[in-house]
Amino acid sequence: MGYKDPMLVPGALAEKVVLVTGGGTGLGRSMAEYFLSLGAKVIIASRRREALEQAAEEMMRAQGGSVLPLACDIRVYEQVEAMIEAGYQAFGTIDALVNNAAGNFVSPTERLSVNAFDAVIDIVLKGTRNCTLALGKRWIQNQERDRVVLNIVTTYAWTGSPFVVPSAMAKAGVLAMTRSLAVEWAKYGMRHNAVAPGPFPTAGAWDRLMPGDIPQRLNVIEQIPLRRSGEHQELANLAAYMVSDFSAFMNGEVVTIDGGEWLQDAGQLSFLDKLTSEEWDWMEQQIKGARRS
Ligand code: HXC
Ligand code: NAP
Repeated sequence: MGYKDPMLVPGALAEKVVLVTGGGTGLGRSMAEYFLSLGAKVIIASRRREALEQAAEEMMRAQGGSVLPLACDIRVYEQVEAMIEAGYQAFGTIDALVNNAAGNFVSPTERLSVNAFDAVIDIVLKGTRNCTLALGKRWIQNQERDRVVLNIVTTYAWTGSPFVVPSAMAKAGVLAMTRSLAVEWAKYGMRHNAVAPGPFPTAGAWDRLMPGDIPQRLNVIEQIPLRRSGEHQELANLAAYMVSDFSAFMNGEVVTIDGGEWLQDAGQLSFLDKLTSEEWDWMEQQIKGARRS
């Protein structure tokens, strides 16, 4: 067994209804399909109805079970309320929300218009706010307990990052919401947590952040101490654990899964990794010499 294998026991999510925004593509789809294989009923929601319907069909063909595809622009609160209502009509409840939908692209900030900022912030920050608020209010009103929100953020939610400033601002806001509601809404039987993935290849992210041969030209993998990108299954394993009852005491946490990427240049001496063994011999002599003088 390894990190590419499913981790949770079969049936770990039986009786659960899980809503995954952006669940028709990329990481959302990988998480949704794994939840389905663990017995969950899954709702996938995003803007493109046809893409969602195709993804739902493929998932059910592969895993069995029920996937409900719902077209919804999470930027529009009324659409989010209608989507949640349709989920309740179909399955009677929603036990967990995975706020995974996002928009992003790289650009020097001085090239961005106000519209460009809003295009990202409206999806990531306001869209996540819309889904959490609409479902959270419903859970509270219905006195439904043991409910979970899992937010997909990034490590630059706390470090910040050049060239993705709108996304960094929005993800930082989502992380602040995660920690705030973990405290405020715990009394209603809700848990709020986050996952911060490092680089996991998906068409959506790669086309907008690292198009063409940029990954090879800029040696992106060299920025990751473990010298590889993430496997979708290892993120799905973590997310499944975090929406399941196995993580019942985890609340307000952000779990990083990035091969050590965000810490790579945080340590002041990371650059010493470039030294050869002979150069380390020389370094050792110099340092010992300095101690005697
Ligand atoms: C500068 C740009 C731009 C670019 C768009 N704009 N792309 N400006 N450089 N590359 C500007 C436009 O000119 C316009 O401003 C404004 O942004 C809105 O553009 P639209 O195309 O009308 O936006 P919209 O149709 O709403 O699309 C939103 C989107 C798009 C975010 C731009 O890419 C999208 O729908 N993405 C969804 C999926 C996605 O992004 N997945 C990746 C997630 S990866 P003006 O002023 O001209 O009107 C991720 C990884 C995180 O989050 C961490 C990785 C390390
Ligand atoms: P992706 O495939 O492009 O996923 C983004 C999804 O969001 C799409 O399914 C898209 O579907 C949906 N979406 C965008 N705008 C929407 C809106 N207004 N309403 C509803 N849905 C909307 O990218 P991904 O790489 O899998 O990213 C998934 C998550 O992981 C994101 O939160 C991202 O920030 C995070 N992440 C990814 C990486 C990585 O390396 N891949 C690293 C760190 C964090 P429609 O176009 O159909 O609406």
